[in-house]
Amino acid sequence: MEVGQEYEIKNFTHRKFSMKHIAVMTSGGDAPGMNACLRAVVRAAHNNKLKIYGVLNGYEGLIDNQINKLTPREVGNIIQKGGSILKTSRSKRFLQEKFRALAIKNLTKKDINSLIVIGGEGSIKGAAMIAKESNLNVLGLPATIDRDLPLVGPTIGFDTAVNTALQAIDRIRDTASTSNTVHIVEVMGRHCGWISLYAGISGGAEAVILEEFDTNIKKLTKHIKDQRTSGKTGCILIVSEGAYNAQGGDGLIKELNKISNFDLRITKLGHIQRGGNPSAVDRVLASRLGASAVDKLLQGCNKFVVAQPKDKIELIHFDKLVAKYQSDMKDYYELIFKLA
Ligand code: F6P
Repeated sequence: MEVGQEYEIKNFTHRKFSMKHIAVMTSGGDAPGMNACLRAVVRAAHNNKLKIYGVLNGYEGLIDNQINKLTPREVGNIIQKGGSILKTSRSKRFLQEKFRALAIKNLTKKDINSLIVIGGEGSIKGAAMIAKESNLNVLGLPATIDRDLPLVGPTIGFDTAVNTALQAIDRIRDTASTSNTVHIVEVMGRHCGWISLYAGISGGAEAVILEEFDTNIKKLTKHIKDQRTSGKTGCILIVSEGAYNAQGGDGLIKELNKISNFDLRITKLGHIQRGGNPSAVDRVLASRLGASAVDKLLQGCNKFVVAQPKDKIELIHFDKLVAKYQSDMKDYYELIFKLA
C-alpha cells in the first residue's frame, strides 16, 4: 500500500502515512476545558516522541503562519484555567479557498502532516475542509458550551457552562421566591437548547422555552398561574437565546406582556457562561479526548471527531456531522413541566 493511500478498517477511513509533526489549535467560541485538552494533546504527543506545534488565534493564525513549537512545560498549570492559552478566532478569511491554501502551505512548510482542531461546529467544518483540500490527517475534538454537534454527546465546556448557569439560577430562585416575582433567565446555546434543558432540570425551573419546541403562550401563562394557585411563590422561566427568532428573553417578555400582568424580571447570563474554571467532568473529558486524538493519529485515522458519546471513546466521521442535528430532547423537555 502506498503512503497517502486511504483504506478502510471497520468502515473507518485510515490513511497509511508516516507521521511527521502535529499541529493543534483552538477555534471558535472558547469553552472551559480547552486548556485541559491542549495539555493532554501536547503531553500525549511528547510521550510518543512527536514534535507538536500550537497555532495561535485559530484559523486566523493558521493563515498568518502563527505556528510555534509547544513543549510539555508550556502547558503546565493550565488544566484548571478557562479560555485558551492559544486564543481563538472566528475567521471569515478561512471561508475563502485561497486563504485555506495558504494555511495548508504554512503547515506543510514546517513538515506538519497532522492537525487537531479543538472547537465547535464551525471549527470542525473548517477541519473537514482542510482534510479535503490537503494531504494532512485531520481530527476534531468537540469543544463548545453549546453541545450542538450531532452524535458526539457531551462537548468540552458544556458541563461547566451549565454549572455556571445553575449557580446564577439558584441565586435568582432565592429572590424570586421571597419577592414573588416571575424571572426570565436567558441562557446561551446559539441554536441549541441543551444548556436550557440541563439548567432547567437541575435548577427546578417552572418552564423552559427553546427554539426546538413551540411554546403556546396562553398555555404557559396558565401554567404559571396554576403554580401560583398551588401556593408556589416565585417562578423561573429559562429561555434559550435562540428562541423567538433570536430575541430570546426579550421576545418572551413581549409575548407575556401582551396577555398577562405578571411582575416580570429578566437576567441574561451571557458570556459568564463561557468563562471560569472547568468542572472536573470537563477536565476529564478534555484529557481523555486530547490523549485519544494523538493515539488515533498514530493509528492513521483521518477526518473524524474523537468523542465520548457514552463512556467509550468513539470516532464520528466528519461527513456525519453535516447531517441535520437530531437530538433526543423531548424527554428532558417534558420532565421540566412534569416536575414543576
Ligand atoms: O458557540 C458558543 C457561543 O457562546 C454561543 O452560545 C453564543 O451564541 C455565541 O458563542 C456567542 O458568540 P460571540 O462571543 O462570538 O458573540
